[in-house]
Amino acid sequence: MHLKFLAILLLPMEVSGTAVIEQLFLDLPIAAVHNRTVGMDVIEPWASLYCSAISEARYGDAIYARYNIDGQANNGVYVYNNITVYDQIMLDARDYANNQPELYATALVLYNSTASNDSRQDIINGLNEIPMQA
Ligand SMILES: *[C@@H]1O[C@H](CO)[C@@H](O)[C@H](O)[C@H]1NC(C)=O
Ligand SMILES: *[C@@H]1O[C@H](CO)[C@@H](O)[C@H](O)[C@H]1NC(C)=O
Ligand SMILES: *[C@@H]1O[C@H](CO)[C@@H](O)[C@H](O)[C@H]1NC(C)=O
Ligand SMILES: *[C@@H]1O[C@H](CO)[C@@H](O)[C@H](O)[C@H]1NC(C)=O
Repeated sequence: MHLKFLAILLLPMEVSGTAVIEQLFLDLPIAAVHNRTVGMDVIEPWASLYCSAISEARYGDAIYARYNIDGQANNGVYVYNNITVYDQIMLDARDYANNQPELYATALVLYNSTASNDSRQDIINGLNEIPMQA
C-alpha cells in the first residue's frame, strides 16, 4: 500500500504539473495523468476531473476523482467490497492520521484552502473530523 509513497519521496515538491500536490491523497502528478505515464490505468472522466480539480484548487473534488480514477467504483461504491468511496477515503484518513500524523496535518492545511466552488467540501469537512494523535 505504501510503495507509492516511497517512490514519491524521491520527487521534489513543486507547484507544477510534474510533481505531486500532496503525498497522501493527491499522489498522482497531473502531467503524468494527462500523459498516461502514471504507472496504472486511469479512466475518464475521472482522469480529466482529477487534473482540472487540482488546477482549480478544488481539493475535495480532486480527492474524489483520485479515488475513482482506477475505475474500481461504480456510482460512488467500490464494486469489490461494497464500501462507498467516501467511507474508503475516511478509512484511509484514519490510517494516515495515526501513522503519518505530520503529513496528515500538513495536508489538512492545504485542503482547508479549497476553492469555494469545490463540490465535495463534505470530504474536506470529514477529513477535519478525523481524530489526530496528540
Ligand atoms: C507529457 O508529455 C509532454 C509532451 O509530450 C512532455 O513535454 C512532458 O514531459 C510529459 N510529461 C510526463 C510527466 O511524462
Ligand atoms: C451494500 O451496502 C449497502 C449499504 O450498507 C447494503 O444496503 C447492500 O445490501 C449491500 N450490497 C451488497 C451486495 O452487499
Ligand atoms: C481546518 O478548518 C477546520 C474547520 O474550519 C478547523 O477546525 C481546523 O482546525 C483547520 N485545520 C487546519 C489544519 O488548518
Ligand atoms: C471554479 O471557480 C474558478 C474560479 O472562479 C473557475 O475558473 C472554475 O471554472 C470553476 N470551476 C467549476 C467546476 O465551477
